Amino acid sequence: MKVNKLTVSNFRNYENEVISFGENTNIVFGNNAQGKTNLLEAIFLFSHGRSHRTKLDTEMINFGKESMKLCLEFSDKDRDYRALMQLSKNGKKSVKINNVPITKLSMLMSYLNVVMFSPEDLQIIKGAPQVRRHFLDEAISQIYPIYLKHLISYHKNLAQKNNLLKKMKFSGNLSDEMLSVWNEQIAEDGSVIMNFRTDFINKINNFASKIHREICGENLNLLYTPSVECDIINKENFYNKLNAVENREIENGSSLYGIQRDEIKFFIGDKEIKTYASQGQQRTAVLSLKMAQVELINDLKEEYPVLLLDDIMSELDVNRRRYLWGKIKDKQVILTCTDIDDEETKENATIFNVNSGTVKRLEV
Ligand SMILES: Nc1ncnc2c1ncn2[C@@H]1O[C@H](COP(=O)(O)OP(=O)(O)OP(=O)(O)O)[C@@H](O)[C@H]1O
Ligand SMILES: [Mg+2]
Repeated sequence: MKVNKLTVSNFRNYENEVISFGENTNIVFGNNAQGKTNLLEAIFLFSHGRSHRTKLDTEMINFGKESMKLCLEFSDKDRDYRALMQLSKNGKKSVKINNVPITKLSMLMSYLNVVMFSPEDLQIIKGAPQVRRHFLDEAISQIYPIYLKHLISYHKNLAQKNNLLKKMKFSGNLSDEMLSVWNEQIAEDGSVIMNFRTDFINKINNFASKIHREICGENLNLLYTPSVECDIINKENFYNKLNAVENREIENGSSLYGIQRDEIKFFIGDKEIKTYASQGQQRTAVLSLKMAQVELINDLKEEYPVLLLDDIMSELDVNRRRYLWGKIKDKQVILTCTDIDDEETKENATIFNVNSGTVKRLEV
């Protein structure tokens, strides 16, 4: 997968810029607050349908302007695509790929695959469980779009169930036949989601352990700890577990069990990283995880995603940097940094300087 040309207009701190990317390493350098991350955000938008850093789309429109427009030309092993995205201040967003309107933004994931890696990804290890679930949901949806459908349906039904539980708690009503209706729906999607999560964690764990051993010789392991534990994951077993805790959930006035409470734990040897590992060890684990995601996408889709590395190199030590350079040199990468000091990195790289929303390609 390659991104070829990005045209931005009134996006963030850009007015009108056109950037033609190189096939391999692209280095985007510049001082702080010049527009480096904004460029990665624009590409990310085309693969996920939403920004990686804001939920409010209109934030991305250049201050004082009424609308923004982005165009991305990209290609996979079979064909070329031209995607167009327009957004106006009233929140209206339209996306077309090769002139065909895309009605569900989640559909974008099946066209363009990118993996973004930025310093905030450390939160996958250090942060709250929902950060890990979010990583999981996004990574699985990117490979299996059907997963997202089940997830949306699950959360819709869960919201209905929670409304009912709240009402039951306050009215003192101890039975309502709708509760088992919601539980059944939840069990249907929940069991599919759990199976996807189990399978994905097994697969990514294989890649991540291998990569992590290559980087530092340590044993990294991911462990899925689902909230609903079943020997065999299916609708019936999931439903029975929910049924068994019905009274407690009514008393609580909201759900206590389900995929919204799943956890993924990261271990080095038998020690949980979150609690015991140093900052550098945690960063290395995230690096292994992200590179594993890249390898897994290639394994299942027979094509590497585009890597977007936002200010990552400066956080890694020399050995880890060297490892990463070795791993990415045969893939398309767009990476941002504030300085280019490594001479070796310039080899075969396409280099851009960003200055106050202006991008200049340097000849090396
Ligand atoms: N809607 C907007 N309109 C105009 N400018 C904006 C808008 N949103 C953000 N900006 C500005 O864009 C600038 C560049 O942001 P960006 O995050 O791309 O910087 P960066 O080059 O990645 O910097 P750093 O090295 O600090 O990460 C910031 O100064 C930010 O205030
Ligand atoms: Mg930045």
